[in-house]
Amino acid sequence: MDRTSAAVSLEREGEIALIRIDNPPVNAASHALRAGLVAAIQAIQTDPGIRAAGLYCAGRTFVAGADIREFGQPPQPPSLPEVCNLIEACQIPIIAAIHGTALGGGCEIALAAHARIGIHDARMGLPEVTLGIMPGAGGTQRAPRLIGMAATLDLALSGKPVAAQKALALGLLDEISEADTPRAVALDGARRAASGRLATRRTGDLTVLTDQTALDAARRRVTGAGMAHLNAPRRIVEAVAASPLPLTQGLTEERRLYLECQNDPQRAALVHAFFAERVVAKFPEQQAKARPLRRIGVIGGGTMGSGIATACLLAGFQVTLVEQTDQALDRGLSTVSANLDGALKRGKLRPQDERETRAALTGATDLNALAAADLIVEAVFEQIEIKRELFARLDQIAAPGTVLATNTSYLDVNQIAAATSRPQDVIGLHFFSPAHVMRLLEIVVADRTAPDVVSTGFALAKRLGKIGVRAGVCDGFIGNRIMSAYRRAADNLVLDGAAPEQVDHAIRDFGMAMGPFEMGDLAGLDIGWQNRRRLDPIRPADERYSTLADRMYDLGWLGRKTGRGYYDHSGEHPVPNPDLSPLIRDARAADGRPLRELTDQQIRDRYLTAMIAEGVRVLQDGIARRPVDIDAVFLFGYGFPRHLGGPMCHADTIGAAELTRRITEYAAEDPQFWRIPPLLARLAAEGGRLADLNDKG
Ligand code: 3HC
Repeated sequence: MDRTSAAVSLEREGEIALIRIDNPPVNAASHALRAGLVAAIQAIQTDPGIRAAGLYCAGRTFVAGADIREFGQPPQPPSLPEVCNLIEACQIPIIAAIHGTALGGGCEIALAAHARIGIHDARMGLPEVTLGIMPGAGGTQRAPRLIGMAATLDLALSGKPVAAQKALALGLLDEISEADTPRAVALDGARRAASGRLATRRTGDLTVLTDQTALDAARRRVTGAGMAHLNAPRRIVEAVAASPLPLTQGLTEERRLYLECQNDPQRAALVHAFFAERVVAKFPEQQAKARPLRRIGVIGGGTMGSGIATACLLAGFQVTLVEQTDQALDRGLSTVSANLDGALKRGKLRPQDERETRAALTGATDLNALAAADLIVEAVFEQIEIKRELFARLDQIAAPGTVLATNTSYLDVNQIAAATSRPQDVIGLHFFSPAHVMRLLEIVVADRTAPDVVSTGFALAKRLGKIGVRAGVCDGFIGNRIMSAYRRAADNLVLDGAAPEQVDHAIRDFGMAMGPFEMGDLAGLDIGWQNRRRLDPIRPADERYSTLADRMYDLGWLGRKTGRGYYDHSGEHPVPNPDLSPLIRDARAADGRPLRELTDQQIRDRYLTAMIAEGVRVLQDGIARRPVDIDAVFLFGYGFPRHLGGPMCHADTIGAAELTRRITEYAAEDPQFWRIPPLLARLAAEGGRLADLNDKG
């Protein structure tokens, strides 16, 4: 076998050449891979004995795309479009044998080949849009030639891969093979191509008919909710619209739009989000072996406990749900059952697994039922004494080595751990509601939590399909601590003169999933009230305090669950609560500052600056280890817009100098709330970026 680069080798079997790509872990189309393919194609073209070639990959997948790590670096020739053009123009027919995932540039390599055979589990797709780019190696031009404009637009705008059968039906694949090894499929395909038993053709020779209906629908789709903030989808539609042109012209247009995407800050932010999802799984304790998990105990059958139980059932665990009374237990069990019904409908639970999954759940009203659990997570009332008492009892009941987890959102995990004789086994596992849907899991490491318990927390997150982020102990950990700060900024904005709905609108307009007051109505305004009462004894005397939320609580306006909160929820759509005005007036009068008009931009600037400043403090205090951990928390738990990469990534685009300038300006009105975190001051002085602090492993 000849090696044409570190990533590609060439083998000869009689008249057949086999091009083998081996670039672990996912065969990304790095420079070495591209150069190797060019050398391999040149070699087979100059060898008169070769009649056909098979192209396949070693390892777990076909090429999973361009090498994302090269984005933003100076381009190194040959480019992927050049490689694809060379494959297509090759005089020797090249048959792609596809296993695993042929994504993005990988899919485009396959589209440029002269025939495509998928191995039964193969998936093909154009996920570039999720990274803020578009197919840039011929995908927007060759896919329409094979599958038409409508299907191409669907693939490239959704970013979702299709399974082999669907790819075959669309025309992305020519055949599906039941053989197991990509090499055997490539060899067989090439042999048949050489003897005329497998039809081959150049994709570029096919023509495309304009599908105006599909283009119109796609243009509506990319300007509609969910995509309006994004730039790549619009460029995808324009590139596909150019596909009826001769191939070289279409490819030029694709290249132009692709380079626009590459230079767009949205690309950098979305790539940051892609890596954030993976980098957070690297944590200092990861060498410690996770404890085995099979049986999970969940205490508390409310929304949170039932959601956690559902998530664990869907991941294949045995679950025991414990409540205090038969009645509460029945309610909890039916909530889990309803959650499973929903999972079945959404395709998150396969019908063939339903019986076993439901049977894996048992209920109990006695904590002793948890004696055999490997991990127990409590989701009971958010009060430190209740939690400490519960943990003291669990200490008596749980088997040695059982992980004891609290789902507290704010409370001190060290104090909870101290109620047991085994603080090394205690950890915070902070789920987000609904726990069987939301992807974030904050893994709160207390002072004495053992490393293997931390590893177990991350292993659980992975089993549940969640993104675990390591956090330290403080009031609210990473997410809720930062949220408390920007929530206060929002309350102050209302005192300053903004209406709650104006704040919500300005924040939604920025791309957040929800504004702070809508969020409050959804979560229930009693949660904020409990928190404020908990913090009463330690609240600084000079802190600005809005009476609005307390008055609403007194009136029983708790948000959606009571039909009233900042909004009136009695109609089909929520409308601003018409009776709120006098309460706002009173709160402003008590605050005693002059009112003013605030623009949406001013609202956003203050809100985000408060979020970022507290994020920087969370870093300074070591609660989050790296800025990227904060970004992941906000992307996966708080609806921060992915195309801005998370609050810390976004902070770098604003710049530390501008942020300190803003804080100085705001501090003139409220020096207690607006203070420059020393780390931000240092970055501003040095011209540094938060991103530079991400390099810790
Ligand atoms: N480039 C560089 N690194 C990549 C990569 C890529 N395209 N895809 C994955 N990786 C890395 C991951 O960062 C991870 O690294 P780590 O181990 O250091 O954390 C490692 O490969 C394994 O990845 P996963 O943990 O995600 O492995 P999974 O098995 O869970 O998933 C996958 C595999 C489905 C291929 C998934 O990695 C994935 O979706 N990758 C991205 C695919 C993609 O978006 N391709 C399009 C790229 S853009 C493009 O092709 C432009 C072209 O049109 C010109």
